[in-house]
Amino acid sequence: MKQLYKQYKRDEENPHSPSSSYSPKHTKQQPITRSLSRSITYILKEQRLLFVLVGILIASSFFILQPKLVPIDSHYPTTSTTTFEQRVLSNGPGKTGRVMVGIRGKRLRIVVTGGAGFVGSHLVDKLLGRGDSVIVIDNFFTGRKENVMHHFGNPRFELIRHDVVDPILLEVDQIYHLACPASPVHYKYNPIKTIKTNVMGTLNMLGLAKRVGARFLLTSTSEVYGDPLEHPQKETYWGNVNPIGERSCYDEGKRTAETLAMDYHRGDGVEVRIARIFNTYGPRMCIDDGRVVSNFVAQALRRLPLTVYGDGKQTRSFQYVSDLVDGLVALMENEHIGPFNLGNPGEFTMLELAEVVKETIDSSATIEFKPNTADDPHMRKPDITKAKHLLNWEPKVSLREGLPRMVTDFQKRIEEEGRKR
Ligand SMILES: NC(=O)c1ccc[n+]([C@@H]2O[C@H](COP(=O)([O-])OP(=O)(O)OC[C@H]3O[C@@H](n4cnc5c(N)ncnc54)[C@H](O)[C@@H]3O)[C@@H](O)[C@H]2O)c1
Repeated sequence: MKQLYKQYKRDEENPHSPSSSYSPKHTKQQPITRSLSRSITYILKEQRLLFVLVGILIASSFFILQPKLVPIDSHYPTTSTTTFEQRVLSNGPGKTGRVMVGIRGKRLRIVVTGGAGFVGSHLVDKLLGRGDSVIVIDNFFTGRKENVMHHFGNPRFELIRHDVVDPILLEVDQIYHLACPASPVHYKYNPIKTIKTNVMGTLNMLGLAKRVGARFLLTSTSEVYGDPLEHPQKETYWGNVNPIGERSCYDEGKRTAETLAMDYHRGDGVEVRIARIFNTYGPRMCIDDGRVVSNFVAQALRRLPLTVYGDGKQTRSFQYVSDLVDGLVALMENEHIGPFNLGNPGEFTMLELAEVVKETIDSSATIEFKPNTADDPHMRKPDITKAKHLLNWEPKVSLREGLPRMVTDFQKRIEEEGRKR
């Protein structure tokens, strides 16, 4: 201590003493040219400059060549050449909810609820095919992993097992809300769950759309027209629905979902789109879901009689799934809210449909009549004038063209089922 104190005193008295670490050194000023030449010598020594130049070259060639070295999803087909910018511009300023999430800013990030189901999986194919990123949310009640398995490994595809009755937070630009059992067998299985899915599930997805500024599309149904007193059904028709029947969980559930969508639009400015879908068929439908087309096709392939409920004179129209998917995308990309009927206006009685199925699969198939189910509508045929006019959309695939495509898929799956047993 004493020594340190002495040292301190000495430094105080003679601030220029060399032992003082605080005093500025009065060294001779180095000429700038000398320090520069020293630095240059340092860089040139041991080929340091060469290393620096090679480093710069490697780094710049990586940034220049990187997009070519890693072709983004080059092994996934891109059916559309429409770019993100074109799509945004075509919607006009302020028309899309929110447009840019990804760093690249070129593709949309889209959620498809119910994306592992029949319609959802075909929609996912189309969206990924045109270059967007897709997140599927599904609780696999009626959906199957097999429907989307061909996208596993695609970096633009994500699958989340989730029930839409519970909230979820995601950053997305668009929401296609399909999650809901669609066939009477499935929606009547647990009616409370069906109405919860329609009401709480839709509320959650609309809440998400509001929060992140996404555009929201609801897949409603022709069932909102109930047993219609107007034929064909226009979007202006308010319907004839039994509010306390066995089908009400679905019919009234979808009507409430439409109401919620419109209230979020009017109250919170959420961009909504409403599609009223008429009977749709195609590959990946649940085989035993009780819907008339899948029923007839599965029965004919299994060499069973085709079950016709009632007298078979009730009518339906049948839309092939690719036509519906085109309609949904056209609606989402357009500026009109809807509701829009999306269906094929070709009208068939159940007996006529049975004849087409017999022609396609097995002409010797027989028909078995059973009593009709409660609240089964007598006729259904969409008026699609509005969609034709405003969305420039109309179905292209006839029943005789579409049915064989579905039969091929059903045949394969029924054979697989047989092998597993
Ligand atoms: N296919 C048609 O003919 C038709 C007609 C009218 C309306 N729609 C509507 O289109 C949509 C899709 O129908 P689809 O024929 O593909 O039916 P689907 O049963 O094949 O698909 C529905 C999907 O939603 C999922 N899902 C059900 N409840 C869920 C929940 N709570 N949380 C998360 N996922 C859930 C199912 O697992 C399934 O993958 C439905 O909203 C349906 O009401 C379809």
